Amino acid sequence: MASCVERLVEMFGSQAELARALRLDRAVVNNWMKAGYIPARWAMQIERLSDGRIDSQEVLNEAQRARPVRVKSRAADDPLSSSGDPKMNDFSPAKRISSFHPPQRTLMGPGPTEIHPRVLTTMSQPAIGYLDPVFVDMMEELKSLLRYTYQTNNALTFPVSGPGSVGMEYCFVNMVAPGDKVIVCRNGVFGGRMIENVERARGIPVVVEDAWGEPVSPQKLEDALKKNPDARVVAFVHAETSTGVQSDAKTLVQIAHQHDALTIVDAVTSLGGSPVYVDEWGIDAIYSASQKCLSCTPGLSPVSFSDRVVDYVKARDGKIQSWFMDMNLLLGYWGATTRTYHHTAPTNSLFGLHEALLLIREEGLENCWGRHYRHHMALKAGLEAMGLEYLVADGYRLPQMNAIRIPESIQPKEAEIRKRLLTEFNLEIGAGLGPLAGKIWRIGIMGYSCRPENVMLCLSALGSALEDIGYPVHVGDAEAAAHQAYAQLHAKAAQQKQRVN
Ligand SMILES: Cc1ncc(COP(=O)(O)O)c(C=O)c1O
Repeated sequence: MASCVERLVEMFGSQAELARALRLDRAVVNNWMKAGYIPARWAMQIERLSDGRIDSQEVLNEAQRARPVRVKSRAADDPLSSSGDPKMNDFSPAKRISSFHPPQRTLMGPGPTEIHPRVLTTMSQPAIGYLDPVFVDMMEELKSLLRYTYQTNNALTFPVSGPGSVGMEYCFVNMVAPGDKVIVCRNGVFGGRMIENVERARGIPVVVEDAWGEPVSPQKLEDALKKNPDARVVAFVHAETSTGVQSDAKTLVQIAHQHDALTIVDAVTSLGGSPVYVDEWGIDAIYSASQKCLSCTPGLSPVSFSDRVVDYVKARDGKIQSWFMDMNLLLGYWGATTRTYHHTAPTNSLFGLHEALLLIREEGLENCWGRHYRHHMALKAGLEAMGLEYLVADGYRLPQMNAIRIPESIQPKEAEIRKRLLTEFNLEIGAGLGPLAGKIWRIGIMGYSCRPENVMLCLSALGSALEDIGYPVHVGDAEAAAHQAYAQLHAKAAQQKQRVN
């Protein structure tokens, strides 16, 4: 296959024209041709210059293959690396440690996802202070981008410093006082984590159980609220990552409000991948995480609270038991226009989230949801052509989280198959959790990982791994089915466009 630079030269007609477009000396382009790759720092310009026909990731991958970054660490006996006092070396690591260079993986598990090169580039910018006026302006933009992604006008919409579990805890710590009754709907791992949170906030959990793989039952919630008219809060997971099921958030919130309860919604896996309408659905408190469909690095948890919740928390008696998570204190940093120190914000991670949300804004939220749906349909067609079945019933499946039943005959080899995918194809898919351990695979197509080449790689790699252990699949059928699904979706989209025009 032609290198990126050869393709560019072909697009522009000659090396001279390409050099002119990039405002470079011809010799530079000539050197790229000789070396067979374009240095990584040009990745973004090349994507822009080629109108996306050459993806920045392709440039980065090619450069990495041709000239892997190797930073040599100093040898232990190098006088510059050892400390003056030899006694201090007694505490030095037993093995020689070099700089860390992770392999380039295709991430198709339950998260984290691959990260868009624009996000990575943005994160490697120089640090600035968290009260720097430039940073403060960026925070305002970030909040407005988050409001767009959440479809809300909630003033208090910002990223908590910490992973999704911290966002979850933030909601419970602020909204549940000792003795408060909270209805928690559990249909997978993360509903269980919510119960833990209620208990640790010394609230009283009332659990509404649904089977793993099924959505939360609105009827069961209604019954629980009738039995517990003193319940102040209802909490549920919109997109259960452990099973790939989505629940009807709009209806569940409506029911909670009919019984005068506030709602806490987990949108860790849904935000950016499938519709979430905070204002239209009337959600009171919601949290997500940066490493799923937002395709940023892990470690930030976007949250949004209605004014009703803010007033509710402000009116609480006594101090909230966590200093770090006290909403009233954090309001001074994220909520106000004049910022005061609360904690040292993870500045470069926030640059990254700003860029990740900007990418969604540029693509358009609906297009982003549409992309997840399209690639889900192609993946599904391919998996079904291999004879594999979904755990979740049609109509409740999350496009971004595909939970597949592992045929009984190959369940004893499921870990071996995942290992082969990782070592041979550099492809990560997820295992089942809890009662579904060993019984399902979880294939994520979230955010930047949701691309056609990933779908095709996954089908080919899985097909070949299954064939190798003797499972009856016909290699090539899955890919053909996926291509056909793409073709049908494109034809349908073209028809719709024509009708609109
Ligand atoms: C639905 C759901 N809630 C909460 C979490 C916790 O997020 P984190 O791992 O970022 O703490 C996860 C993580 O996968 C999740 O999928």
